[in-house]
Formats: sequence, C-alpha cells, structure tokens
Amino acid sequence: MSKIRAAITAVEGYLPDYVLTNEELSQMMDTSDEWIMTRIGIRERRMLKEEGKATSDMAAIAVQNLLKNNNIAPEEIDGVICCTVTPDMHFPATASIVADKCGIHGGMSMDMNVGCSGFIYGLKTASLYVESGFCKKLLLIGAEKMTSAVDYQDRATAPIFGDGAAVVLLEPTEEEVGVMDAILCSDGVGRKHLHMKAGGSLKPASHETVDAREHFVYQEGQAVFKWAVSKMVSVSDEIMKRNGLNADSIKYLLPHQANIRIINAVGHHMNLPEEKVLVNIEKYGNTTSATIPLLMWENQHKFKKGDNLILTSFGAGFSWGAIYVKWAI
Ligand SMILES: CC(C)(COP(=O)(O)OP(=O)(O)OC[C@H]1O[C@@H](n2cnc3c(N)ncnc32)[C@H](O)[C@@H]1OP(=O)(O)O)[C@@H](O)C(=O)NCCC(=O)NCCS
Repeated sequence: MSKIRAAITAVEGYLPDYVLTNEELSQMMDTSDEWIMTRIGIRERRMLKEEGKATSDMAAIAVQNLLKNNNIAPEEIDGVICCTVTPDMHFPATASIVADKCGIHGGMSMDMNVGCSGFIYGLKTASLYVESGFCKKLLLIGAEKMTSAVDYQDRATAPIFGDGAAVVLLEPTEEEVGVMDAILCSDGVGRKHLHMKAGGSLKPASHETVDAREHFVYQEGQAVFKWAVSKMVSVSDEIMKRNGLNADSIKYLLPHQANIRIINAVGHHMNLPEEKVLVNIEKYGNTTSATIPLLMWENQHKFKKGDNLILTSFGAGFSWGAIYVKWAI
C-alpha cells in the first residue's frame, strides 16, 4: 500500500479593509515612510478596526469562503486547528469559536501558539493527524489581530505588525504530493528577546501592568533579526539538502514575512532568483501566523500540481522551521 500523505486541497484568506499606512503611523509616532520602507520593507498593513471584532471573525470569513467555494458542508470537517498568538480570549480555543461561527460542531478543535512559526508547526501537526487517518478533512488556520497586541507608542515595533487570516484544507492522498518533509526547531533562551510581559500566570493583569504598558509585544529587534536570518538560512539549507532540492528544482520559497531584509538574505543564500521568492510584506506587514497561508492564497494561481514549495519561518520562542510541500492541485 502506498504511503498516505496530507495534501493541501484548498486555500482561502481574508484581510480587513482598513489600510494603516506609514503616513498615518507617522502622525501617531516619530517615524517616516522612508525609515520603515528601508529598514523593514512595509508600506502599509491591514487593521481590524470594528468594535467587537476579533481574530475569530477574520478566520471565520476565510473558512466560510473556503467551504462555499469548494462545496464542502460544515459537517464534513473533522478537525480545526487555529495557529494564533492573538486568540479572542485566553480560553476557550479560538479554533472552537471559529468552528462554531462556521457551523462546524463536534470534531476536534484546538489552538497552537508558536509565535510567527505557528503555521509551520501547525502544518506538520495537521499533516500527522491526516496521515494517520485520524482526520479526513482538517482546516488549518493562521489568523492574527496583531494590532490588538501592538503598542502604538513603541516606534520600533508598531510598524511591523498587521492583521489577517488564512486557512488551508488538508486531506489524505496516495499521490506523491502534499507535505513531504518538515524540520521544526526551538530554543527557549530566545524568549527574553520577544514576548509579552503581562497577562499570563507569571504576571496577571493589574493596574500596574496596564500602566507599565506590559500587555504589548516586547521585542529586541536586533537580536531577533540576527537569529531569524541565521536560523531560517540554516533550516532551509538542511531541508533542501536532505530532499535533493536545489535552486532549479524549487518553484517557490514562501518565507515568513517579518522584514524584507530577512527575506532577501534567505532567498540569496538559497541562490533563488527574486521571482521565486514570494513577498507581500509591503502590503500587509507581519501578520505572524497568517503570513505564509496568505502568501499561498494570493499566489496559488501560479502553482501547478507537483511544484516544489519551501515554507520557512522564525518567531517567538524562539521557534523556527522549514517545510517541503509538493503542490497538490
Ligand atoms: C525592528 C527592526 C526593524 C529595527 O531595525 P534596526 O535596524 O534593528 O533598528 P534599531 O532598533 O537598531 O534602531 C536604529 C535607530 O532607529 C530608530 N528607530 C527605531 N524605530 C524607528 C522608526 N519606526 N522610525 C524611525 N526611527 C526608528 C531607533 O531609535 C534607533 O535610533 P538611534 O540610533 O538614534 O538610537 C529590526 O531590528 C527588525 O526587523 N528585527 C526583526 C524583527 C522581526 O522580524 N520580528 C518579527 C518576529 S519574527
């Protein structure tokens, strides 16, 4: 019997309408379009502005569109995994809120919080559920309302992040396509460089934590930058080598969209021409768990069945990884 693999058989995305430009940011803090474009490569990002709307609302629209566009009934879905660092609430899992909003009841649902590596970790985890036969139609979501976690008084961090959501459907296949290989890594020593100080069990919310602005992303940019380049380069290298891939046989690289300079460094190291490195950071910024599935959603028309794609990411933890996917549709 041939091996069962997990294939990505559908992709959808959702971006909120409101565009937060560098010009608008420049009115809120001491920064400029020139600085942000040169250092990070972001011109604008999306913001979910409506009162009472959360991460699950963006994810639910993406899921509803996926179900509708592919004629799938909610009852057919037997698993929902939501990768996010900006859940609607500490608990319950945002995955179960999304499932309920989409009429999906009774199956497995859970969240994964692995910072910007969420989708990479989620894809490997989801593929194991599908390969084992535990799930037949599993939705893997990357969704973030990062603007709810950003301090608009912190000019080094605020310009980076944006909101958005995307979802992929994973199904079993006996063909030589789907999730082919994955490398997932982490090192908790990096936690001091990228975290949220308060709101967890270590430092529950109090007047003091709010006054000290400790409920926002805390980032030491230079340390994160150095680690991100070095780890994304080494893990992409490793996954290429052990699968006999090279710059010619890779069709596209889908790198986490954190900083254009990080993306360029990884593409350059892999000897990939610019057109093989997918980029949308200028329009959406860093949407954390959503960057890679959003890239997939926007570029899927370019992919052909059997194309070799490399996905790579780095994020809080520190966590990083790379996945080799053979496009299945
Ligand atoms: C955050 C980041 C863009 C900052 O760029 P940098 O080149 O490291 O900049 P620095 O923090 O060294 O700051 C350089 C100067 O720019 C200033 N600066 C910081 N943010 C600024 C802004 N938005 N506008 C204008 N000036 C700014 C700093 O105050 C500093 O000024 P000084 O030299 O007078 O002290 C960069 O470190 C980065 O992208 N890191 C990786 C972050 C990331 O990818 N995070 C996602 C998690 S995966």
